[in-house]
Amino acid sequence: MVDTTTPMAGKTVVITGSTSGIGKATAIGLAGMGSRVAITGRHHDRAQAVAAEIRDTTGNPDVEGFVADLSSQTEVRRLAAAIVEAYPTLDVRPRSKASAAGTSSIAKPVPRARHHTTPT
Ligand SMILES: NC(=O)c1ccc[n+]([C@@H]2O[C@H](COP(=O)([O-])OP(=O)(O)OC[C@H]3O[C@@H](n4cnc5c(N)ncnc54)[C@H](OP(=O)(O)O)[C@@H]3O)[C@@H](O)[C@H]2O)c1
Repeated sequence: MVDTTTPMAGKTVVITGSTSGIGKATAIGLAGMGSRVAITGRHHDRAQAVAAEIRDTTGNPDVEGFVADLSSQTEVRRLAAAIVEAYPTLDVRPRSKASAAGTSSIAKPVPRARHHTTPT
């Protein structure tokens, strides 16, 4: 039977630039559909506050805040390592905010919707 209330249950989603705007709206929507959601922004307190707000709003406890300034390649790599450590698989990666240079590994388009990462 198709689950119409939490169709994204069991999926892990990382949404860059998701403390406001389209990214935040996407995070709320996907958390409401049951995804495990990682949100990102440049400021620790804001990222944690927005993650808590989304957990409260949606009733989904699996929403975490991560911090990185995506204009910095060093921070992009640190974020990627933190996400790989936190989640064994990554299913969906919408990008609200890419790196300023557009060259970061985390900002590259995912060729397929289902993308797996392997912890080192
Ligand atoms: N809003 C719309 O209606 C709309 C419509 C069509 C297209 N778009 C496009 O969708 C994208 C998102 O637009 P938006 O208006 O929703 O939001 P935005 O103002 O472009 O982005 C806001 C988000 O990006 C984060 N952010 C900004 N600079 C960052 C950086 N250097 N490193 C890491 N995170 C950063 C912010 O987090 P912190 O401030 O917490 O760091 C916040 O979560 C843009 O490319 C926009 O052109 C938007």
